[in-house]
Amino acid sequence: AALAHEPPHPLRRHSTLLLQYTSSNHCGMTKIPSSWLCVGLEVVAESAAVHRVFGSHGSTFIFQLASFYTSPNLHTAKLCNLPADTKFNYAVQEYSGSFKTVPAASKKTVLSVVGDVGIENIQDTISNLGSDLKGSTPDAVIIAGDWTYANGCHEDWDTWLEATQPLFSKVPLLGISGNHEAKQDHRTWYSANVGNIHTVFLDDYTGIFGTDNIGSNYWLTHRNQQLDWLKADLAAVNREKTPFVVVFKHNPYYNTWASHQCQCSPVKFEINDVESCWKGNYYMNSTSTGGKLGDTYDEPHCGLQGKFEDVYAKHGVDAVIAGHVHAYERTAPLYKNKITEGAPIYVTVGTGGHGLYQGAIKPIPEWSKSTSSSLYGASRLVADNDKLTIYYRANGETTTIFDSVEIKSRAKPAGW
Ligand SMILES: [Fe+2]
Repeated sequence: AALAHEPPHPLRRHSTLLLQYTSSNHCGMTKIPSSWLCVGLEVVAESAAVHRVFGSHGSTFIFQLASFYTSPNLHTAKLCNLPADTKFNYAVQEYSGSFKTVPAASKKTVLSVVGDVGIENIQDTISNLGSDLKGSTPDAVIIAGDWTYANGCHEDWDTWLEATQPLFSKVPLLGISGNHEAKQDHRTWYSANVGNIHTVFLDDYTGIFGTDNIGSNYWLTHRNQQLDWLKADLAAVNREKTPFVVVFKHNPYYNTWASHQCQCSPVKFEINDVESCWKGNYYMNSTSTGGKLGDTYDEPHCGLQGKFEDVYAKHGVDAVIAGHVHAYERTAPLYKNKITEGAPIYVTVGTGGHGLYQGAIKPIPEWSKSTSSSLYGASRLVADNDKLTIYYRANGETTTIFDSVEIKSRAKPAGW
């Protein structure tokens, strides 16, 4: 009910075809040379049986019928216009449960957030996401992309969903795609008012449909549409009802870990030519100032930063929370690589359980205020009307909280 409804996306196609890219062999399928780009096609039939076809993308495009996966029965029920903060009981055949709708506008709101979850440590992560912290449990849970690492293996989704059911059958779930989810040919970005937080979900991978596509009109059209949508969405926020605005996306703009770096100028994190960067001209390697430009397939966030960061600043976004980097990091309020009062705080929380990264860039910028790559864990947002507190707690901890920061509410955007 809280979803901000938008007209259909002009690029949306009436199809249930889903594309996923994978570089390895999954679930006993015929081995495909790893040097080839593999494309998995999932066709969801009306019977809900899913047939998986894998092919290879070389000079010619070959499809190979590799395996069949029969999905359990999937049902969708839309529950619209539910009153806020209300408990509902429900039953699905023999399963019965209950859930509570999210708080009303202007009411204290608690969110749990994590990215890069996978299935290896799913029980610990779900336990952290759902448990009490400072006397409150979450009103909703958010996944910041890279949910299962299934990479086309449907059985992994079943494992993931079975493990998460105890929490997600009770607490509303929101999220956004990461690079291990589909490169979808339809709109994936959206916003929702959850209690006193206006949550915004952005897709770094929009328009990416293969490396040949980068810089194309199609690719740029997708990016421009998301940018235009964000400007309109943030301009319409009523800070009296939702004093806080938080963006969730997969890839972090500000990250001091060695992995997933990219840059648009010889000075890391600084963008001299926004238009050139937007079109995909950037370096992949943080230490390379003479590297090859234009390889924007795997790390698309640098190209987006130059335009999106200004929109965040104009509209007073309080925090931007991402995953992708399998570590924790929290920055000072930051605008164009400089500590700036009133600018968004950037949080990376790709610590959901699918491995941890080591190594950092040098030197570490002054704006990096807290990091860890030795703890799986999750963030918790507690939004009272006068302040938003963002905690990071390691899995298994009940008393110690690794990091926290407070952001004061603002009646209107900073306007600088
Ligand atoms: Fe990722």
